[in-house]
Amino acid sequence: GWGNVPMGPPDPIFGISEAFKKDDFPKKINLGVGAYRDDTGKPYILPSVQTAEVELLKQDLDKEYLPMTGDAGFRTEATRMAYGDVYDSIRDRLVSAQSVSGTGALLLSSRFLSKYYPSKDIYVSNPTWGNHKNVFSNAGLNIKEYRYYNPVTKGLDIEAPNDSIVLLHACAHNPTGVDPTHAQWNDILRVVREKGHFVLLDMAYQGFASGDFARDTYATQLFASNNIPMFLCQSFAKNMGLYGERVGCFSALTASPEEAARFESQLKILVRASYSNPPVHGARIANFILKNKNLRSQWANEVKGMAGRIISMRQALRTILENDLNSKHSWKHITDQIGMFCYTGLNPEQVATLSKDWHIYLTKNGRISIAGINSSNVRYLAEAIHSVTSH
Ligand code: LMR
Repeated sequence: GWGNVPMGPPDPIFGISEAFKKDDFPKKINLGVGAYRDDTGKPYILPSVQTAEVELLKQDLDKEYLPMTGDAGFRTEATRMAYGDVYDSIRDRLVSAQSVSGTGALLLSSRFLSKYYPSKDIYVSNPTWGNHKNVFSNAGLNIKEYRYYNPVTKGLDIEAPNDSIVLLHACAHNPTGVDPTHAQWNDILRVVREKGHFVLLDMAYQGFASGDFARDTYATQLFASNNIPMFLCQSFAKNMGLYGERVGCFSALTASPEEAARFESQLKILVRASYSNPPVHGARIANFILKNKNLRSQWANEVKGMAGRIISMRQALRTILENDLNSKHSWKHITDQIGMFCYTGLNPEQVATLSKDWHIYLTKNGRISIAGINSSNVRYLAEAIHSVTSH
């Protein structure tokens, strides 16, 4: 029997969705998971994605296995989008694999690092996305934390011994919504170079930081153009709304085409032993959109629309708290922070009161997914936050 198996805790993010589903209060709000909702609170299937699916269906494509590293056309388009202007100069040294979304790319990264990288210490920002630690420790890496922000110097604070693995969020830092400025990225590059760190770049929100795909590639391009040894983990869950299709891309910048060939041979072995080869459907959709000029610009507008609605909800929430409800606190950070989340500063006790008394669900660290706010629930949310922060 399984008498030795202890009961595990619910997932800090998906566990919130489970609790939310069980609640039958009509005005309940789920601000836990980072999944986009439209202004009526419904999941949003991007029209560009719908078009791609209709067109793909007409092509009567088969369901044969993909190669172990996935759809080559998709990988080219995805990495070109992430490395921008630097892409052409690195393409012969870049190894990539279609991944089971961003988490799958992190899984490949951490397993590869754990097998071949000398240091097993990975430095993650405090705080970081809750699942980072699970993925890395499952692969046998030791989690260390760097303080993301130093209140004394008002600067970024990354303290790690030489040759460490450092995880950085390429854009739209999750959960804080606070990204380095370009000058700060340049500082990070200097530290990384001086200390010989390996950079693991997680890019789950390209397009959500600035509303512009190219502008969100600053960090990726900076490290790649300076030949920093790096892996990049991309996700199309948020920016194409392909959550459940699990579409992502892992890529590794190596030192030479010869090194790339050896790397790729081991990557294939790793994939084969893990899940054999990735699923076809989602990558076909993404590839179809990325390759089609008109559809791609339509998609860019749809992403701008999502990013724009999120910004307007930040504004609305702050305005109601400060102007209508006369909160004695400043809520400037709601509009200063970027991406899908706001790191509210609410403590675990206030978070618990929000779910118990107000049926508003968020992660214990006080993060709210702005994408779950809409014109019909923003006032109720503001009243609830005001109430738990008033005394
Ligand atoms: C989140 O942070 O809410 C999202 O990335 C969803 C997830 O997989 O946790």
